[in-house]
Amino acid sequence: MNLKGKSFLTLLDYTKEEIEYLLSLSFALKAKKKGLSHVKEVDGKLLEGKNIVLLFDKTSTRTRCSFEVAAYDEGASVTFLTNSQMGKKESLEDTANVLGRLYDGIEYRGYEQKTVEDLAKYSGVPVWNGLTDIDHPTQFLADMMTAMEHTGKKSEELKFAYIGDGRNNVANALMIGCSILGASYSVATPESLNPDVELLEKCKKNAEKSGGSIFITSDPMEAVKGADVIYTDIWCSMGEEDKMAERINLLKPYQVTMDLLKASGNKDVLFEHCLPSFHDLETTIGKEVYQKFGLKEMEVTDEVFRSSHSVVFDEAENRMHTIKAVMVATLSDKLDY
Ligand code: CP
Ligand code: NVA
Repeated sequence: MNLKGKSFLTLLDYTKEEIEYLLSLSFALKAKKKGLSHVKEVDGKLLEGKNIVLLFDKTSTRTRCSFEVAAYDEGASVTFLTNSQMGKKESLEDTANVLGRLYDGIEYRGYEQKTVEDLAKYSGVPVWNGLTDIDHPTQFLADMMTAMEHTGKKSEELKFAYIGDGRNNVANALMIGCSILGASYSVATPESLNPDVELLEKCKKNAEKSGGSIFITSDPMEAVKGADVIYTDIWCSMGEEDKMAERINLLKPYQVTMDLLKASGNKDVLFEHCLPSFHDLETTIGKEVYQKFGLKEMEVTDEVFRSSHSVVFDEAENRMHTIKAVMVATLSDKLDY
């Protein structure tokens, strides 16, 4: 497998074999970091001498830190850039040209998908999508890796049930990834938040080819039947904060509760969440929502979040191992995996 020089903008650009390779490489790199097993193909500092830039137009904890730690672990140097000239005093094309001269790889988190596409087009170096309004492909790798680790199943044996905002970046990435890998994906969401029709058609075609399935319903109890993983995300993504009242109204019946976990019929069902999560009153936004709407927890109850079903912190850790795999696969001169 040779992914050197390839950007990672959406999983739609990757085949089943390529995504499986990235997952397998993630497991090897995690084992290397933890000193668990020896895979000689991933020995040494795989990104030594490389310079990468992390461009963030939206806030982040996990993604930024994962890129940084992964880069440092493998010997790369990192620039974190939040206040660039891009789009303000300098066009995206000119900025991408400059960054491509200085750096070996570019991570971008922001709004439009077109921005990551154009950065890749004009920079000439691999660009990694660290989240846009419509996609979050590195998140999917961590979600799948965590589910495989905890169930011992292969990706095509897994059933994910996503409950909540069915057309946000995280839901899209999960639907795309499951459909390519042959996993089952069911989503429970109000009709107004159904996945984008064009994307859904693409994913249905992928699922036909891979043996996966996609099921859309407005009934959470129906979606979770037989699930290995119940997944949710916040109700208002970054940039949608003004929609809080509308979303609470729409999505209150979609809160992930212990009853919903029980409705899966799987006593070992896992709970996943990309994080950050509003499961208690320990955040300023959580407190504001409580004062305005009387809700103490939003997309998931604190009970589920803290239960033995919850693998959210393993998932957060796996962001680093999977992001490392993406960077190493697309950038390393030393990888022989
Ligand atoms: N899951 C995720 O992308 O987290 P951050 O927003 O903290 O990067
Ligand atoms: N859907 C969320 C994901 C955060 C990681 C957002 O875009 O804010």
